[in-house]
Amino acid sequence: MLHVIKQYAKRITGEVDDALSYEDIEKLIEIPKHEKQGDLAFPCFVLAKKWRKPPQEIAKGLSEKLTDSLFSKIVAVGPYVNAFLHKETVVKYVLEQIIQNGKNYGSWSFGNGKNVVVDFSSPNIAKPFSMGHLRSTVIGNSLAHIAEKCGYKTIRINHLGDWGTQFGKLMVAYKLWGNEQQVKQNPIKELLALYVRFHAEAEKDARLEEEARMWFKKLEDGDEEAYQLWLWFREESLQEFTKIYDLLSVRFDSYHGEAFYNDKMNETVKKLIDLKLLEQSDGAQIVNLKEFNLPPCLIQKSDGATLYATRDLTAAIYRYHHYHFDKAFYVVGQEQSLHFQQVIHVLEKMNYPWAKNISHIPFGFILKDGKKMSTRKGKVVLLEKVIEEAIQLAQKNIEEKNPNLTMKEEVAKMVGVGAIIFHDLKHEKQNNIEFSLGDMLKFEGNTGPYVQYTHARACSILRKAGQLDLTKDLTGKIEEESWMIVKQLMLFPSVIEKSFQQHEPSEISKYLIQLSQDFNKYYAHIKILHNDHCLTTRLALVKATTIVLEEGLRLLGIQAPKQM
Ligand code: ARG
Repeated sequence: MLHVIKQYAKRITGEVDDALSYEDIEKLIEIPKHEKQGDLAFPCFVLAKKWRKPPQEIAKGLSEKLTDSLFSKIVAVGPYVNAFLHKETVVKYVLEQIIQNGKNYGSWSFGNGKNVVVDFSSPNIAKPFSMGHLRSTVIGNSLAHIAEKCGYKTIRINHLGDWGTQFGKLMVAYKLWGNEQQVKQNPIKELLALYVRFHAEAEKDARLEEEARMWFKKLEDGDEEAYQLWLWFREESLQEFTKIYDLLSVRFDSYHGEAFYNDKMNETVKKLIDLKLLEQSDGAQIVNLKEFNLPPCLIQKSDGATLYATRDLTAAIYRYHHYHFDKAFYVVGQEQSLHFQQVIHVLEKMNYPWAKNISHIPFGFILKDGKKMSTRKGKVVLLEKVIEEAIQLAQKNIEEKNPNLTMKEEVAKMVGVGAIIFHDLKHEKQNNIEFSLGDMLKFEGNTGPYVQYTHARACSILRKAGQLDLTKDLTGKIEEESWMIVKQLMLFPSVIEKSFQQHEPSEISKYLIQLSQDFNKYYAHIKILHNDHCLTTRLALVKATTIVLEEGLRLLGIQAPKQM
């Protein structure tokens, strides 16, 4: 739609004698609710004010002057100037655009190569990868792809939770009940078992908590044994996480986590002191945020230990100096909203002008039977298991439906993983999701595999048609039923822009479902390969659909097999 809106805006700009700018006109253009009234509408109220004339009169005058090959007629409807698209010209124009641009169709340049830092996934080490971290991983990964599509450069940061009291607990548990061989064979599972056992036993014996605090203190003070254990737990956990990232095709530019800032926080504290922002409160050091109606931000505990917020302040400063970001995104659950508000306000009080370019991008919980899942009690679903199960199910489906398919394993991986990612990204990110393996593994209805299947079906039509130069004989002549698809294809660039502005990958997933439904409806009614004068245009439509489906899926982090 974007291209034809631009064209319409250009034509109107030429007729209004600088009364309104091109940009203003573009913003005013609407899409009428009923197709019968036209495809685009320009309201004349603003012009009426400027020219002190009734809008109806202006609409009538404009409608008589405007002509363009993209429009079959332009008429005044009350105070509006409505344009009807000349379908044949538009079809030809849109399909040519898509086929010529290929995967670059829908790309924007407003990012101007500036840097966007995306902090996402960021799991806590020595704990299993939770469903909440899966959400952060797939939303963050998709937002990074979308930002790149809009012309930004992205830096993907995994702010690992690799420091904190949980390591003290793990060390105590490991020394009491652990076994090196078992941890090596199955790190996440063993470490989780130790973590869960620690909490169970600590309920009976309070001394364990004290012991854990002592071990963490040792670690902070640089004790060699504690440090070696920490290094080992971190290494083993990271290897396990990497397996999951590989399965999901997610990569990072940096794994600098909480521990990375250990030796950098003093400077932050010093800056806060120099700026006279630190206050004593019950022995702790805080930054007062009363003027924002927020509780104070805790910087240092009475025993000198620093806090999560201190690390994030330090990390933000480090990132700015390293990457000169134009925007910084933190894709972290909504339960941390207060934390990020505090961090951003403290940075503002430190006079960093870039603090306003930081956004916390929150998302809802994954609930089980309406409740949050807790690691402490071991009530977690292991992500790796879920992914494996999805892939197996996809494999079974392929065996039943397409036993001769080549590269079955690769395709099963794309489909299984696609199902899981799409299941998350089809929900608006703020909504809570009830965890259901059954739903995640569904391949019919509004699912990733449904979109993938539509894409593969379109690819197979093109294979059957053989080699053709689609843009050469493209006339734009095509049956009425294709119009829904063409209109949908035209919307793709604006859907991408909206998903970027709103940090909302679900704009794209919903769009892909709609496009798939339109295409499948068309496919059910029309013999695409029928050899008549519309054939080339029909095939160009199929080709354009494959391009947009594949690119849309890619922006979500999902691959599109050509056969399945
Ligand atoms: N590790 C944290 C958690 O699991 C998330 C870290 C998010 N990123 C950040 N810079 N605070 O809760």
